[in-house]
Amino acid sequence: MTELQAARAATAQERGVPMLELRDVAMHFRARGRGFRSTTVRALDGVTLTLDRGETVAIVGESGCGKTTLGRVSLRLLRPTAGQVVFDGEDVTRTPERRLKPFRRRAQGIFQDPFTSLDPYMTIGQIVEEPLVIHGAGAAAARRERVRWALDEVRLRPAEDFVDRFPHLLSGGQRQRVGIARALTLTPDYMLADEPVSMIDASSRAEILALLGELQERHRIGYLYITHDIATARHFAPTAAVMYLGRIVEQGPTRQLISDPLHPYTKGLLNAVPEPDPANRLAERIVLPGEAPSPANVPGGCRFHPRCPAFMAGLCDVVPPPIVRIDPLRSVECHLYGDDDHQRVREAEPPPDDTENTAQDGETV
Ligand SMILES: Nc1ncnc2c1ncn2[C@@H]1O[C@H](COP(=O)(O)OP(=O)(O)O)[C@@H](O)[C@H]1O
Ligand code: SF4
Ligand SMILES: [Mg+2]
Repeated sequence: MTELQAARAATAQERGVPMLELRDVAMHFRARGRGFRSTTVRALDGVTLTLDRGETVAIVGESGCGKTTLGRVSLRLLRPTAGQVVFDGEDVTRTPERRLKPFRRRAQGIFQDPFTSLDPYMTIGQIVEEPLVIHGAGAAAARRERVRWALDEVRLRPAEDFVDRFPHLLSGGQRQRVGIARALTLTPDYMLADEPVSMIDASSRAEILALLGELQERHRIGYLYITHDIATARHFAPTAAVMYLGRIVEQGPTRQLISDPLHPYTKGLLNAVPEPDPANRLAERIVLPGEAPSPANVPGGCRFHPRCPAFMAGLCDVVPPPIVRIDPLRSVECHLYGDDDHQRVREAEPPPDDTENTAQDGETV
């Protein structure tokens, strides 16, 4: 961490401000529907989340529920349709790209596919050095030294053996280590890890997660860890948020979410986890009963109602459920818990209007 980073982080902590805050974030895309009609894809709808330095929060949910979109918004690779992205108390939601550099130095990402995320025509050394070049960090010799340091940190040792190689000569696990080294060179405070081990051979997965854990201890990195597998989130993330169709439906300590799930969807996810054969687990897709949900066609009332075994007609299909605080660490969005014994964080309210999203950075709608 540079002195500037340390000063900023310290100030934010003194002020009691979380490192990363997503406030009521919505991300709606315009997409081509049937024929020439366009539809609104509500990938995120009112997501609120905080992450501190040195903390790991898992985002868990089925494919298509909005996890990657949430991650991309958190890195401001996407500008949300509504809501705010706040980093160390500074609102970066609408900050233009040319003024985002200080934020980009501190917020980096590791992505799912280590086979397509590394440029095949660049050497490992060039790939890891690139963020330093973009951010003008140090002279050439200092940058080369930094690259060696980063490769050593991710245990690609000796670093000299890797700098001149090309990605295709490496295994999936080694490529993901290169991705981590690249994200690490600027010693960020925040790292998005979007399914970082789901495309890696089973034998390397635990090692990569252990490596991320060590790096967190050494550098106090905060991770948003995206996964479709709630059971493995337990080993890596003390806190988890379960997403369904663009909303967080339950949040709390991961162990409690697993041992005592509250939301009917969380219960369904746990039932859908295949018997623990660690060799296959991460490659499995979760399949819950009922029609696969579509963010282009969000059901009224509770979004989960068409698939919910506890569905209450006349309520769940009409009124969006309140967010209910169960205890200081746990909250759930479901009518089953909306009684007077629990504190309502948000009263039942209609979902926000469709809002067309056209303001995008780096992505076509
Ligand atoms: N650029 C985009 N344009 C239109 N729809 C999108 C875009 N990006 C994501 N989506 C849609 O948003 C939904 C959530 O996607 P995503 O965030 O990738 O989910 P997950 O990572 O949980 O699988 C999906 O229905 C996806 O098709
Ligand atoms: S609000 Fe109703 S439909 Fe939704 S999860 Fe709770 S019980 Fe099921
Ligand atoms: Mg994804």
